[in-house]
Amino acid sequence: MKKIGVLASGRGTNLQSIIDSVENKEIENAEVSVVISDNKDALALKRAKKHEIPAIFIDPTTFRTKEEFDEEIVRVLKEYNCDLVLLAGYMRILSPKVVNAFKWKIMNIHPALLPSFPGVNAQKQALEYGVKVSGCTVHFVDEGVDTGPIILQKAVTVEVNDTPNLLADRILKEENRLYPLAVKLFLEGRLEIEGRKVKIRW
Ligand code: GRF
Repeated sequence: MKKIGVLASGRGTNLQSIIDSVENKEIENAEVSVVISDNKDALALKRAKKHEIPAIFIDPTTFRTKEEFDEEIVRVLKEYNCDLVLLAGYMRILSPKVVNAFKWKIMNIHPALLPSFPGVNAQKQALEYGVKVSGCTVHFVDEGVDTGPIILQKAVTVEVNDTPNLLADRILKEENRLYPLAVKLFLEGRLEIEGRKVKIRW
């Protein structure tokens, strides 16, 4: 049984899509073992509890440094023997300690077609730039911000009267499909990283 740990700061629709895919066996032989949040009010924690998944709030204000906070995250992820760590709307940048403790075992989902529009407000950035197509990207996490090897991407058309919220909603629907697929491919051992490239054995 493979164990998935999820870091989430907010709403948690991507977390939900992973939980659902595990429950309906689209992702086999796996469980979401722990959900960790830096926000005690995160809806993601409520979603986890509803599915009887340990939901742990780690209060960033009780640590002297970001490194100490991140050490606690690593400790909890290790305590739950996580084989894979998912960032799902996690609003902090991981320090190299975390990245290296789970080297090439951390994934993130980003609401744009990377390398375009990394960082926050990706959908707004895309609209302001005037692209006709945006989308979402699942990638492995390295020490940069949204820079790691790309696993899967899905394009979404930008509509004439789009607002950041409308575009975000359409991209989110695709995110919620794409992330479980990337997780499934990883857990089935179908992903191989060669430099910047991720080879998929379909
Ligand atoms: C998603 O748009 C994701 O791409 C980004 O943060 C948002 C999280 O949404 N990293 P949710 O909390 O999974 O609903």
